[in-house]
Amino acid sequence: MSEIPKNDTAQSLFGVFAGIHSLALPRTTVSPPFEGLLGAYYTKLVTQSGQDPDWFVGHAPRTAETVLDLCCGGGRTAVAFARSGRRVTAVDRSALQIAAAEKHGAEEGFAGQVDWVTADVTGLDLGRTFDVVVIAGLSLTLFEKDARTALLRVIRRHLAPGGQLLLDHTPARPDESATEQVLTLPVALGDRRGFVLLGAQRLPAERRQFTNMYAEIMDAAGNTERHLTGFTFRVDSSDTLAHELARFGLSVRDRYPDLHAVPSAGPTPFASRELVVAEALPEGHGRG
Ligand SMILES: C[S@@+](CC[C@H](N)C(=O)[O-])C[C@H]1O[C@@H](n2cnc3c(N)ncnc32)[C@H](O)[C@@H]1O
Repeated sequence: MSEIPKNDTAQSLFGVFAGIHSLALPRTTVSPPFEGLLGAYYTKLVTQSGQDPDWFVGHAPRTAETVLDLCCGGGRTAVAFARSGRRVTAVDRSALQIAAAEKHGAEEGFAGQVDWVTADVTGLDLGRTFDVVVIAGLSLTLFEKDARTALLRVIRRHLAPGGQLLLDHTPARPDESATEQVLTLPVALGDRRGFVLLGAQRLPAERRQFTNMYAEIMDAAGNTERHLTGFTFRVDSSDTLAHELARFGLSVRDRYPDLHAVPSAGPTPFASRELVVAEALPEGHGRG
């Protein structure tokens, strides 16, 4: 039996995914979030789920010329902003995601219009400001504690006065109860075939949603490889999030429900997203 490496991923596994992990089956790779085969698959999945990057573009000020996309992943949002004529800088710490994003940008004909940066966003200092900072795909909710504080400071530092932050999250509803759901999705990779189990355990009382993925992929000779990953989204009410942003000098202006998502097909199987637009208040506001 193969030894399954322990890393933070294992901490966020629930139910059937924790059970599979404990079996320590051969040819199993446990990957950090957004890395490995499931990291490459993630962008495809998000796109399939109806999370339309133009949702963000449509809520950005028309006059905005420069955009910073934090945690850009496979570049969907950055490329959508480039298509709308904006000059975009897009940052992700994953070389795998940045490579996918660059490829996507080039395929769409925007190779020169986006600056792709491989970096940890919590320590980012580009030495300039932007009209819009966008952090999409629930990415803000991946950050906790010191990392979240650092990220909110980075966001504020990179916004021009009056600039706007666009983000999405899955707000906790009043009296929302805990839920768990697992979907089975087919996967085809060249001549390899298999499936991904995509699961989410949402625990609003604990302000957490665990999102897990497990894939079994078989090649033409019948050899099976297994991939397991998991990560945790923080779940806040809209008001809690607005109060937190205010501490960092970011004042919520508007909130929009997602009317187009296909909830059964994406990484947030049963929670609807909300897009939040916050404005950077003049220096001196906020205590964060
Ligand atoms: C949920 S995905 C969203 C990707 C993209 N924004 C989208 O909507 O498709 C989160 C992304 O955040 C990146 N990420 C996580 N922590 C990061 C960090 N500390 N610095 C930079 N990128 C990070 C991951 O590599 C991943 O690509």
